[in-house]
Amino acid sequence: METGLIERVAARAGTVAAGLAILACGPPAFAQEPDELLARGTYIMESIGACGNCHTPKRSDGTPIENLHLGGAFVIEEPAFKAYAPNITMDEATGIGTWSDEEIIRAIREGFRPDGTIIGPPMPTPWYRDISDTDVRAIVAYLRNAEPVNRVVPKSEYRVPLPPDWGPPVESVPDVSPDDPLAYGTYVAVALGHCTECHTPIVEGVHDFSRVGLGGNTYPNIFGLGFSVISANVTSHPTLGIGEWSDEEIKLAITDGIRPDGRQMLDSMAFQYYRNMTEEDLDALVVYLRSLPPLPAE
Ligand code: HEC
Ligand code: HEC
Repeated sequence: METGLIERVAARAGTVAAGLAILACGPPAFAQEPDELLARGTYIMESIGACGNCHTPKRSDGTPIENLHLGGAFVIEEPAFKAYAPNITMDEATGIGTWSDEEIIRAIREGFRPDGTIIGPPMPTPWYRDISDTDVRAIVAYLRNAEPVNRVVPKSEYRVPLPPDWGPPVESVPDVSPDDPLAYGTYVAVALGHCTECHTPIVEGVHDFSRVGLGGNTYPNIFGLGFSVISANVTSHPTLGIGEWSDEEIKLAITDGIRPDGRQMLDSMAFQYYRNMTEEDLDALVVYLRSLPPLPAE
């Protein structure tokens, strides 16, 4: 896996010019005062980040079990693995309470635990590499503040070898300024929201970044809810994608899972988190999605 997945995804989306210059020079959106960091972390975790969509166990109706918030044990089973999302609360015996801030940041952005072992899929590490220093610190501030949950989670089983790493060490990642809607939308969708993880075709276990947004991946028994879903085409294709949906229709699909024809989507995306997003971030997602060239190509 190369560094800068965001670059590759943006480049495929034809946004290369908008990409890195802005990534490199955007002013920090948030000063790193502790309470501002916590507010930012709370916003990310309860909206676009949606870490709890995997790390908080759900009831059979799909709602999160509040008193096990981030306590883990939710299982994701695919042919290649049976993965248990671990307890990421500050419980020292069963969670990550003994990890330092730097160790937690390295786990999120590089996929290494303090003992040097690699964190496997579906933890979206290759996407999280591009989370800015401010935002990853904000996430840590939130985790430090959340209620510890004492809960032992089984070890994941991988039937395929994991890579030795997810890329070179992540140095410093600057904030992306909301003043550039496309660069910012790409950051929100790719780094914070890992939307392109599910919505990019996976061929023999590898994402095909030449077809970002085409979807078509099957998720059997998603979240253990007893049904399987196929990720949708979210490119700007007029009939097979969302090219003819209005901005409001796209936003309603993201926040409420309702399609323009009124059909309710299956409970697969983190609607109950996404609906807490600001209008600004929802608009940014729309800008990003609209930048995806129509697929399948003629
Ligand atoms: C798509 C599901 C998914 C999402 C979303 C997700 N994770 Fe994970 N995460 C996992 C799984 C599964 C593992 C364990 C993989 C393994 O066993 O190797 C993991 C592992 C971790 C670990 C290592 C913990 C340990 O004890 O090994 C940390 C820390 C972590 N995730 C934090 C986060 C944070 C913070 C977010 C949101 C920014 C997040 N995760 C979002 C599925 C997810
Ligand atoms: C866990 C995988 C996953 C993630 C992450 C994900 N999606 Fe989806 N998405 C799906 C699936 C599966 C469907 C189809 C659901 C169905 O058929 O009921 C879908 C449907 C959609 C649709 C409706 C398209 C249509 O034609 O029905 C939009 C728009 C969309 N996603 C946008 C996003 C955005 C924006 C993000 C990031 C904020 C995102 N998705 C993150 C799996 C995912």
